[in-house]
Amino acid sequence: MSKDTFYITTPIYYVNDYPHIGHAYTTVAADVLARYYRLRGKEVYFLTGTDEHGQKIEKTAQKNGETPIGLADRVVQRFETLWKDLLITHDDFIRTTQPRHENGAVHFFQACFDKGDIYEGEYEGWYAVNDEEFLTETTVKEMGEEALSKNPNIIRLKEKTYYFKLSKYQNQLLEHIESNPSFIEPTSRRNEVISFIKQGLKDLSVSRTSFDWGIELPVDSNHVMYVWMDALSNYITALGYPEKTALFEKFWPAQIHLVGKDILRFHTIYWPAFLMSAGVELPQTIYAHGWWTVEGEKMSKSKGNFVDPFEFVKNYGADSFRYFLLREFPFGQDGNFSKEQFIRRLNTDLANELGNLVSRSLSMVEKYTQAKVPAFDLDKAKEFLTPLHTNFFQYQEKIEALKFDQAFSHLWDVIKHANQYIEHQQPWVLAKKEDQSQLHQVLYHVLELIRMVSVAIAPLMPTLSDQIRSKLSLDKILCVKGADALSDALQIGILKAGADTHKGESLFQRIES
Ligand code: ME8
Ligand code: MG
Repeated sequence: MSKDTFYITTPIYYVNDYPHIGHAYTTVAADVLARYYRLRGKEVYFLTGTDEHGQKIEKTAQKNGETPIGLADRVVQRFETLWKDLLITHDDFIRTTQPRHENGAVHFFQACFDKGDIYEGEYEGWYAVNDEEFLTETTVKEMGEEALSKNPNIIRLKEKTYYFKLSKYQNQLLEHIESNPSFIEPTSRRNEVISFIKQGLKDLSVSRTSFDWGIELPVDSNHVMYVWMDALSNYITALGYPEKTALFEKFWPAQIHLVGKDILRFHTIYWPAFLMSAGVELPQTIYAHGWWTVEGEKMSKSKGNFVDPFEFVKNYGADSFRYFLLREFPFGQDGNFSKEQFIRRLNTDLANELGNLVSRSLSMVEKYTQAKVPAFDLDKAKEFLTPLHTNFFQYQEKIEALKFDQAFSHLWDVIKHANQYIEHQQPWVLAKKEDQSQLHQVLYHVLELIRMVSVAIAPLMPTLSDQIRSKLSLDKILCVKGADALSDALQIGILKAGADTHKGESLFQRIES
């Protein structure tokens, strides 16, 4: 934690398809980081949006018998609704069809052109429309020309184009990656990129002439900009590029571009090379996470195994879905979605462990101390609670390293510890003693732990955090620039003796599968 600002982005998603679990995954992860750093007092800028140009969108719109912008306007609403349902707190939503973006992208192209890095030529080769990607010679060899010609998603191109001198940046790029270990994460992805670059970079075609749903080149009105050059520039056009706006000055370079491993090369090779050419600083970190499969298979509409995030949010709530997404497997790796596993996690971690801790504790407080925070001895509380700070520090360290599964596992250690402490201390036995001080002290320790958890869990499960806090008569957490609400929460003795508690309804219902 060095700078006091934090700029995080998600990919801008294509509007040819409805949002699914994969899109939700990246955006929820970005939201957790955004909320986490706001909690710790940073000034955060969180950007998401949609990628609306290109051949793939044009083709989908044609198939549907609508205009590309009609398609975009329709699908963008689905994304906006989903982000609302998933409690996403982005500060901006950029659409590449907005004038602010189109103007910025044109300037970006012009800057590379003026640098002498763009020249006219012709492209002949294979193009994957789904991925909006020119296939490399290696891929063509691997897949074979015969198979390529039969693939409905792959077309043969022969057209005039403008090339970007990617080869010119090969050494500068390698040097940057090698001298900045955290530029590409995780390490396995970094190694992948390094070996790809070492095989040699070819100049990149950055314009198309055989369709026109795109941004017209400032230097030649017969061409539209290659959709990836258009799309990548969103990360700066959203801040006002090419103007040196206050937003740009404050937040660029970005701390993290969060992306899936499918678009690693675009972000770690093309994007930094374009930026070097245009004379714009490089982002700090590009983090490429893993891939979700569903019940062991690649997700696709035709297989009918499409995980609809709307449905999960509707049936189980945003917090539970957010929890499952980040808790289930390590962020850098691939993982599998299974409904059975989803329900198991909700029942075990949320209902049995966290939900039960809160409800049993508040029941006892209701029963033994008339729903009031009991009197306590501060020194004893410190003695019991201070050693548990380690878990919260580990939690912080892991979140900051994007090891979400481990971060939440450290937090759950606190929750499990509190449950075991209750078993061990047996407040129901202590309640029978003449001297109630030990009973009161034990209940106080547990309430303080629940309070600390309510703060630490807030980035992941914001609604749950509010619910727990209202049961303890605590206000919603306020994020204030420069103030670290998470560190403050670890102070001991914040709950005041005599304050009301409200057991209310239980936080989670067990799900019968
Ligand atoms: O690539 N598992 O957009 P896109 C995990 N417009 N993450 C997944 C996923 C899965 N099964 N499926 C999708 C594009 N994602 C471009 C990006 S950025 C300048 C332009 C997530 O709609 C993951 O973040 O195909 C992946 O990188 C992204 O969605 C691709 O979204
Ligand atoms: Mg894709």
